[in-house]
Amino acid sequence: LEYFNEKYTVVNMRKHLGKKVFPDAKFYKEDNVEGVATAAVQIEGGDKNNDWYEWSMQKGRTKDGTNTLRANEHYKLYKEDLLLMKQLNIRAYRFGIEWARIEPKEGEYDSAAVQHYIDELILMKEYGIEPLLTLHHFSSPIWFMNLGGFENKENVRHFIKFTEFAVRNFGQYVKEYITINEPNVYAYMSYADGIFTPGVKSVKRAFKVMSNLACAHILAYNKIHEISRELGFNDVRVSFANHLAVFSPKNKYNPFNRTITKILESLFQTKLTKAVNTGKFSYPLKNTLKVKKGKYYDFNAINYYTRQTVKGFKPGAKEGEKYNDLGWEIYPQGIVTLAEKIYKKYPADIYITENGTCDAKDAFRSKYIYDHLKGLAMSPLPIKKYYYWTFMDNFEWAEGESARFGLVHCDYETQKRTPRDSAYFYKEIIENNGVTE
Ligand code: NOJ
Repeated sequence: LEYFNEKYTVVNMRKHLGKKVFPDAKFYKEDNVEGVATAAVQIEGGDKNNDWYEWSMQKGRTKDGTNTLRANEHYKLYKEDLLLMKQLNIRAYRFGIEWARIEPKEGEYDSAAVQHYIDELILMKEYGIEPLLTLHHFSSPIWFMNLGGFENKENVRHFIKFTEFAVRNFGQYVKEYITINEPNVYAYMSYADGIFTPGVKSVKRAFKVMSNLACAHILAYNKIHEISRELGFNDVRVSFANHLAVFSPKNKYNPFNRTITKILESLFQTKLTKAVNTGKFSYPLKNTLKVKKGKYYDFNAINYYTRQTVKGFKPGAKEGEKYNDLGWEIYPQGIVTLAEKIYKKYPADIYITENGTCDAKDAFRSKYIYDHLKGLAMSPLPIKKYYYWTFMDNFEWAEGESARFGLVHCDYETQKRTPRDSAYFYKEIIENNGVTE
């Protein structure tokens, strides 16, 4: 099958693939589910107390000049959106709560915001949609950032207080939590690259943030379990969303290239994963809050998009043949490679907490989903959940509204949602445990 040659509609996929897409698919055991993922600030709109609002309102921060104030107006339209999810057969939903809405000022909690998320969770339950709740997904309250955010280890306690508050208020409806989304990406983009708020450009400060985030996860992990036990909520499961890419040298016969590739992989992935999962820190990461060694994951949560090919000292070299709208290589075998690698070191269930592609024309999204799911389906690993990123086109950080990752198209002017062909393709996969005629 060639990408880009034809539209991978459900009909075309069937023609190519025959009746059953996943004949021996382990992925499709009864307890395996496919869902979608979103993040609060990327879809909700309307909140002025988070740092991304302030940042995106400044000129030149997003590619297309858009900001978070509008996004998908999901805070208003959540009932409609959950209904559409239900109609598309979505049974699992990874979503985020916005800390800045719940605690707009330090120590002051907004009961209307709390009620809003409770209403949303109740509706999910009514629709048979199982929530996976993310506590921190790139955005923070402005007051927290004014104190120095996660760069200051003293501030981690604010996040832990918020974590406790969230479990006390939402724990009744939630069994699974993600503490922090992609600490490596957050630290890098916000403190080294500087294209995310607060726009710092210092590798040293980025590793400080990463260290504090690793500690924050461990303390939040303990807190979620402690409060859940106290409240009598059993079988709560907690992890962090680990952004993993395959790292390959541009020239695998060049020892220097191979070494640099290994170093980058270790700095951005291996060491961080180890610190977060086990409390064992190695340079340049530091155990800033003196957390104890232990096991701090109940499952492995992997966010996977692409392969990073390293040339010289940098990732991002072009390799392979297929790229999405943002120029990210489409490399489906990577999802299995990484799942295997993680499982070897950290044997626990695997959730793919994000996987998806930017494809405004919906020309290859179905094929992308198919190829990634197929790899997972054929793997003997306990891959329990898969969340497509993302449900509908949304505010893609520095790319603004211009990058379209959604199964559902969003017209931002009218806020009309239109499921793409790939949404129906995904719906069929969920319905039939594969594609049937
Ligand atoms: C990972 C991030 O968690 C999410 O917020 C982002 O939109 C996707 N990657 C796509 O870039």
